[in-house]
Amino acid sequence: MIIGGSASQKLAAQIAKKMGEPLCPLETRKFPDGERYIRIKGKMENTVTVVQSTGYPQDENLMELFLILKTLQSMNVQNIRVVIPYFGYGRQERSFNAGEAVSASVIADLIEFSGVCEVFCINLHEENICNLFNVPTHNLSAMPAIAEYLNRCMDKPLLLAPDHGAINFAMEIADILGCECDYLEKKRISPDLVETKTKNLNVQGRDVVIIDDIISTGGTIVNAIKMLKEHGAARITVSCVHPVLVDDALLKIFAAGADEVIGTDTLKSEVSVVSVAGLVANSLKS
Ligand code: R5P
Repeated sequence: MIIGGSASQKLAAQIAKKMGEPLCPLETRKFPDGERYIRIKGKMENTVTVVQSTGYPQDENLMELFLILKTLQSMNVQNIRVVIPYFGYGRQERSFNAGEAVSASVIADLIEFSGVCEVFCINLHEENICNLFNVPTHNLSAMPAIAEYLNRCMDKPLLLAPDHGAINFAMEIADILGCECDYLEKKRISPDLVETKTKNLNVQGRDVVIIDDIISTGGTIVNAIKMLKEHGAARITVSCVHPVLVDDALLKIFAAGADEVIGTDTLKSEVSVVSVAGLVANSLKS
């Protein structure tokens, strides 16, 4: 049985369909003062999988997730699995300065405390978040799904990571599509300001696909597009796993010269055209 939290209803329905599992009715609403109310309406089974992304508004989506999990526990469900397509609070998985909250670790503890026996995430911002859990935790990759989408609409593009941290994503897609990949050098000045070093790229007249895990403010991608434009790239496709897209990020990316922006449905957005339902369903089945 699959339960979709309010942040991931469509994805949960698609996962349930692919698995041939029932989708459990869930009522969610808010009390007048803003507090969450949930009611699980289906007849429970032994194994229940909850699908809930914990992106914006992170605190509300997390609280809803905890309410669902603890309610399942109180209903004596034996195996509670959770799929968190986008893991909110994933940016701080260790302490850099004394006194800082290790937010990813706090969230992992709370999820475990809610009685979960297995966790499935997609392209965690930091792979080692898996180690913060004491129950089996899987970090699935959306790259094959993105590669399949790209393969349908272009022929041997250049895959470009906007920073060194994203090179593995570019390599994974380039391997599948049998094309070249490269990366740019980026320095983050502040949460919403990045600097990208100029690099000699041979992109004249070529189709380029930029790939990153997250697009948040869009600053990283805008810098990469500017550089590609200066070097004469023909068509620029921007792709990501998690389209966080804060405020006018999408507009800034198109204004910089992107021809297309695609993301997955780990988060709901205007560009969530690649579904991770298949990869999640396969992983839940195995
Ligand atoms: C950084 O480590 C990530 O992989 C992304 O590059 C980053 O989150 C993008 O942020 P923004 O869109 O704000 O530049």
